[in-house]
Order: sequence, then structure tokens, then C-alpha cells
Amino acid sequence: MKVQECVLAEEVVPADSAEAGLWDAIVVSEGIKARLRNQALLSLLVRPDLPFEVTALHGLCTLYGPPGTGKTTLARGLAAQVAPFVPGRAVRRIEINPHGLMSAEHGQSQQRVSELLGDYVPGLASDGLPTVVILDEVESMAVARSAASLAANPADVHRATDAVLTALDLNAAEHPHLLFVATSNFTTALDEAFLSRSDAAILVPLPEPEALQEILASTLLTLSGKYPALGDLARSSSMGRIAKAANGLDGRRARKVIFEALAQRLDTVLDPGTLTEDDLAAAVHSAAVETSGPEVSRAAH
Ligand SMILES: Nc1ncnc2c1ncn2[C@@H]1O[C@H](COP(=O)(O)OP(=O)(O)OP(=O)(O)O)[C@@H](O)[C@H]1O
Ligand SMILES: [Mg+2]
Repeated sequence: MKVQECVLAEEVVPADSAEAGLWDAIVVSEGIKARLRNQALLSLLVRPDLPFEVTALHGLCTLYGPPGTGKTTLARGLAAQVAPFVPGRAVRRIEINPHGLMSAEHGQSQQRVSELLGDYVPGLASDGLPTVVILDEVESMAVARSAASLAANPADVHRATDAVLTALDLNAAEHPHLLFVATSNFTTALDEAFLSRSDAAILVPLPEPEALQEILASTLLTLSGKYPALGDLARSSSMGRIAKAANGLDGRRARKVIFEALAQRLDTVLDPGTLTEDDLAAAVHSAAVETSGPEVSRAAH
């Protein structure tokens, strides 16, 4: 696999981009969004003028938490959030998925990681434009060396992680217009030295019932553009109870549960506007049982 193939997207996002919708679609506490945005702005605006020895800032934020909680979407939406505040009012976004980089061939992984992060990515951003580099699912690249003895080729994994750290150190010193945002489903498998280089490690948790209600309602409201009756369902007083029963679902599953509810009956497939509270409650119940087991689900009722 060539390192270029790990770069899924590369684009310049202007301040007035329609991408603001990405960030708005994720329902998390405002504190999480503010922390990510502020840390990113500090990295891009303040850090470049200060010596690295003084700030010890690497220009790396790590978003971690359970699957389906909005980490990748927040990382993608960040460029549009910071663009209004940077000179030129535009931010480049480079999206990297390191899967496939960890070659089985001896010594190849380390070389490719160095090439990608030390060479190719800085080359894409050589015009000096503030750039957000997303390292999605970074655990595949920065594996904890303490756990690497279980891997097929531990020495290679070890060296690849070293290469990530070296590249981060070099970029921090030489390319302070690069801000890395890593996402991960877990932190225990992430290398400690990688986590220590993160200027902020931000937990993106499972949504609370209040957030679940907002996610369910916003999905219904979007559908109500085409099926107006779903607007009434979104605003109905039973949504609070349904959202409580959904406790334990992640944000991705909460959006999908609306479609799972529609799929329960042919009538609602053919005319989604006829979806009832009972349909939705039944689908939420099944999803909660699947996710957390019958005991927890009963307790939520
Ligand atoms: N907190 C949330 N609020 C609203 N929607 C959410 C939330 N979390 C996830 N979603 C929905 O789920 C989809 C997938 O989210 P995303 O890929 O960003 O999650 P993730 O945390 O990166 O998941 P993974 O860890 O599996 O990669 C989003 O497009 C969004 O529709
Ligand atoms: Mg993700």
C-alpha cells in the first residue's frame, strides 16, 4: 500500500463553509466542543510564535470514547469551526486513515509511517495554511508498546509507534501550522508516550438521555421535511420516556433506531409518516436489550 492511499481527503475549508452542519449534528455538551475548538485555535494561533521548549505543545488533540459517539464527525467539522478565527479565514483539512499502513513486511511499517507523517503530509501543507490533520482510528498506528508483545510482529509495531512519535516531535518543532486530531475507540491500547504528547485528550462519552432525546428528535425533524406527521412525533411528550429507555445507545445507533422503527412494519416503510410512539418505543426497547442485555434495559423502564 502506498502512503498516498492513506490520505482519504484533502481540502481547504473556508470560514463560510456549509460544513458547520457536521459539528452541529453532534449532540455533546458544549464544553467538549469548546475545549476542542479552543485547543485547536491555541495550537494554530499562539503556539507558532513560542519556543517548543517552553510550551511543550505538540499540536495534537486526541478524541477518545465508545464507538459511534461522534468523534470522527467532530474532528471533520473542526476545520469549519476554527476557519473564521485564523488569518485568511480558511483551514486545510487532511484526513488520514492509517489502516493498511501497518505492513506485515519486516521494517516496512516504520518507513511508511515516517514517509506519511514526516514527509507526505507536511508536503501537502507546504503553503503554510493552518491545517487540521485527522488521524482517524489512530490505535492502528500508535499501538501501546507495552502490549505489543501480543502482536504478530512486535518489533515492527514498536518501531512504527516510534516513527509516529518522532514525526510528531519533528512536526511540532518545524511545522506549527499543522494540528493533528487523533480519534480512538479506546485509550488503553494507545501508546503512553503518544497520549503524553496530546495537548488535550478529550473523552467523547455516550449520550445522556437528554442528548438522546435531542438526537431522536432531530432525526425525526429532518425526516418531517418529507413526512410532516413525524414533526408531531418529534415534539410529543412521550419522547422523554422513549429517550430514557434508549439509555446506553450511542449516537449512531440512536439515529439508526428511527429507521429500525420504520422497518418493523410494511405500512411504515411505505408511509413513514404513520410511525407511532409505540413503534418507536418498541424499536428503542429492542435496541437497548441488544446493546446492554435484558437486565439493564428493564431497569431503564
Ligand atoms: N453525539 C452524537 N449526536 C448526534 N449524532 C451522533 C452522535 N454521535 C454519533 N452520531 C451519529 O453517528 C454517526 C457516526 O458518528 P462518528 O463516525 O462521528 O462516530 P465515532 O465516534 O467516530 O465512531 P467510531 O468510534 O465507531 O469511529 C454520525 O454521522 C452521526 O449521525
Ligand atoms: Mg470514528
